[in-house]
Parts: sequence; structure tokens; C-alpha cells
Amino acid sequence: MGTSNRRLATIQPVEMTREPLRLAIQNKLDSKKSISERRRLGQFATPSGLARDIVSFGLTLHNDELLSFLDPAFGTGAFYSALVDSAELNNISYAKGIEIDPYYGLPAKKIWADMKIDLELHDFTKLEPEYKYNFIICNPPYVRHHLMDTQDKIRIKEKTYQASGIKLSGLAGLYCHFLLQSYQWMADDGIAGWLVPSEFMDVNYGKEIKQFLLSHVELLRIHRFDPSDVQFDDALVSSAVVWFRKHKPIEESNVEFSFGGTMEKPKIVKFIDRQTLKHESKWTRFPQMSVRTAETMEVRLSDYFTVKRGVATGNNNFFIMNREKIEALGLPFEFFRPVLPSSRYVHEIEIFADDIGNPVLPQELFLLDCRLSENEVQEKYPILWSYLESGKDSVSKGYLCKARKCWYYQEHRDAPPYICTYMGRDNTVTGMAFRFILNHSNAIVTNSYLALYPKKNLLQKIVAMPDLKRTIWKMLNDMSPERLNDEGRIYGGGLRKIEPAELLNVPIPQIAEILA
Ligand SMILES: C[S@@+](CC[C@H](N)C(=O)[O-])C[C@H]1O[C@@H](n2cnc3c(N)ncnc32)[C@H](O)[C@@H]1O
Repeated sequence: MGTSNRRLATIQPVEMTREPLRLAIQNKLDSKKSISERRRLGQFATPSGLARDIVSFGLTLHNDELLSFLDPAFGTGAFYSALVDSAELNNISYAKGIEIDPYYGLPAKKIWADMKIDLELHDFTKLEPEYKYNFIICNPPYVRHHLMDTQDKIRIKEKTYQASGIKLSGLAGLYCHFLLQSYQWMADDGIAGWLVPSEFMDVNYGKEIKQFLLSHVELLRIHRFDPSDVQFDDALVSSAVVWFRKHKPIEESNVEFSFGGTMEKPKIVKFIDRQTLKHESKWTRFPQMSVRTAETMEVRLSDYFTVKRGVATGNNNFFIMNREKIEALGLPFEFFRPVLPSSRYVHEIEIFADDIGNPVLPQELFLLDCRLSENEVQEKYPILWSYLESGKDSVSKGYLCKARKCWYYQEHRDAPPYICTYMGRDNTVTGMAFRFILNHSNAIVTNSYLALYPKKNLLQKIVAMPDLKRTIWKMLNDMSPERLNDEGRIYGGGLRKIEPAELLNVPIPQIAEILA
């Protein structure tokens, strides 16, 4: 359905609205609950202005005279409040809200006590529809899969399958299940508007949601908010509103993708055909970017990089030392090469070099990297020989050293231009658990890092256009944390890790675009 058909919402005069009261109660309740408790049930309310924007746009899509409204994650009722402020009350034939937590649900019952709304304190995922609704608006709980109880996850997954015929990945968060389970609650031709994290548009676990949106319903529009827009708080920065009608999809119709501004006045709009959406794995490229060709579609890091774990020295205490120790022992400097301290001690994201290529860092370390045979060392470098002798019966017997042709030979490595810290926890600001470091120095890295080396195709371009080195680095750091996390793994306590093969598998279509 095109925008021309949109019905204008009737806005109630401000003095009749109950929104200030609801908002005051919502804020008071939020302030008395810790963020970690709220995170457990995804209790981050929709700001009033946004709720009003969403509801009034939804009303323009709605064809029926009478509205039957459902919010299955009601909270204190931001959307219901916007609805009663935007629609003729007589047009609302039935309204229902479901809320699991009495902490919000009971005050909500009080706020809306005199209104014709049925508020049920229950777990939505445990309910069967007793009625079909033609207007579902929801900001579902954003609870990530690993925070969901394992048994509950199995039950919810099964319920989602029964309700929608879709088997969701185990990595899908609760919001995905809400969206799919609501299908059963929708009347034919009914409209649904879902305020959800936009990551489902790109990550693996979102594949089935996209399939649902293209094959089960008529996807009408996806609006993505501009993360740099300050009107939304942190919880909403990467949100999108997904609009669909319960109706068989019309193959030839296009889907509206909009970005920035408001639902009513977006900054950018583009209509994308369904065939393109079927083949495109990254929907967040719309509307800003154009449709991708098959060549740029599946580009992965492995197309442009080789990734190697940093060197495993066999014994860092023996082989790695600072300048003072080298000098104090009188060891020949020519057998040492700069090496970065372990990733725990390096907070820089760009490593500069001094005029001989050593990294400019508070801690200066060097790796003993001698390729001479024992005889040669003994003959020509007696001090180095006696140092090696001191490790002969201990270090040389270590697992790695004893497997080498000569126990002190280190693996050969060039200084990598890009380095990845492949273990970490989600950064609260960037959401990234891994950092990509730009290395201008001759330092190599130990196995607390992954080293990224551009392949010939990329290297040639970097040589021809030196600025590209930095652009590529930015691109690495701008990769979607979800895409990296999708390939990597997570351990208890939130520690994430990505192995070389997993990193190589991360899609990075932006590189292909700039090199095209
Ligand atoms: C993101 S908030 C949205 C609240 C409100 N609709 C709004 O837009 O401000 C999600 C709400 O869903 C509730 N919730 C979480 N899990 C639920 C479940 N299984 N069934 C029903 N409600 C649930 C939370 O307590 C929270 O109030």
C-alpha cells in the first residue's frame, strides 16, 4: 500500500491526554529498578514522542473502521496511551495488553482502570490467542538468547514454530519469538508495527525472520532510526520499526525502506523489490546504499586477508624482554625484533613507529629471534650462547620448543599492518568485543593477537593509494559487532573469542564496494 492512502490521525487536545501521568509513573518505576534487573526482562520503555510517531503512522496503514488493538509487551502502555490520544475512542472496539511483570502491570492497571482495555498479567509466550487483533503495536523485550533460561528457550522455540511455522535459530533473542508468535494473534489484513533492534536485518539468526517477512506476510515498510539522532536514548539507537500486514505477499510490490527523521518524515526513503530482498543478506544497507550485485554480496574477510595467530614463543619470559634486560645481559641487539606487549596491556588502537620502526608504546619489548645454528652462536656470540645455555634444560624441553628443528627458532612472521585482539567482552560504548589495531611499526605480535595480512589484490591497491590502509582499518572497526559475534563464540561471563577461520568468514562487503 502506498503512502497516498494514509489516513491522518486525529490528535487529542493535550489537556485530555493521560500521557504525562503515565510517563511520570513509568519514570518513577524505572528509577527504582536497577538496569541489570530491567535488562533481564527487556524493560526499556518507548519514549512518548516515538510511541506517538509509530502509532499515528500505523493508523495511516489501517484499513478497517474499527480497531482491535494488542500490545503483548505492555509495560505501562506507551503505545496504548499514544493510541487513545491519536484515534477516535469510538473507533477502538477492543484493546488488550499483556505484561509479565506486575511491577509495571499493576500500576498500568490503575492508570487505565476506567478505559476499555483488558490488561492481563501473564507471559505472552505462554498464552493462546482468544481473539484476533487488527492492530498490533509492540516494543518487545530485547532479551538476548544467552540470557534466556535454557528450558524456557526450548519451550519458546517450539511455541514459535507452532504459531508461525518458522524454526528460529537458537541465537535468536526473545524479541524474534514475540514477533513470530504474534502472527497467530493477528486478524486477516491486520497491521503490525514492531519496534525491534535492527540487527536482525544483518545477522544469521535474523534469516528466518526475513524469510517470514517475505513469505508469510506483506512486508510494508522498515524504518530505521538514525543512531546519531539524540532524541532516542541508548536503548533505541539501533532500532527499526517493521510494518507488515497479515496478507499473502504481493510479489510485484516493493517494500519501503526509510532512514532517519521520524516515521512520518524520514530523511531518506527507497523502495526495494522483494526479489532483491530475498537475495540480499544485509538489509540495513537500505535505503542509503544501492542494490548489490552478486559479486559484492558474499564478500568475506578471506577474500582480502590472510589471518594468522601471533607467534607462540614457547616461553615468553625467556624469549621476550625489555631493552634494559637486553643491555644488562649484554645480548646482541641484532637478534631481537620488536614485539607488542600482550593485548591486556595495549590500549592504543593505532601503533606509531619511531624512526627505526620500533613501536612507540609505554612498554618496549623485544623477541629473541635468532636463526643461527647452535654451532654458529657458540662460535660467534658467546654471550648469547650462555643465555641460551641457561634455558637448555628447562625452556628447550617445553612442548613447543622441543618440537622445533632448533629449540629457540621462532616462527617466521612479518609485522602485520592490522592486528586483532581476538578475546574480549562487549565494549559498552561500541558494542565491539574485539579491536582492530592499525600497526605502523615493525613489531610482530604474540598469540594474544591475530595478525591480518592483506592479500595481493588488496596490498597492490594499498601500495597505489596509501590512504586506503587507514580506510580499511576504519572499515574493520566498523564491522557490525553482531556479525563478528555471529562467527565467534561466547563463554560464560560474556567473554567472546574469535578464531582465525571464524574471522576470515565475517562478511565485509564494504571493501568490495570501495575497491570496485
Ligand atoms: C521494551 S518494554 C516495552 C514496554 C511498553 N510497551 C513500551 O513500549 O514502553 C517490554 C515489556 O515487555 C515485558 N515482558 C518481558 N517479557 C515478557 C513476556 N514474556 N510476556 C509479556 N511481557 C513481557 C517487560 O516487562 C516490559 O515491560
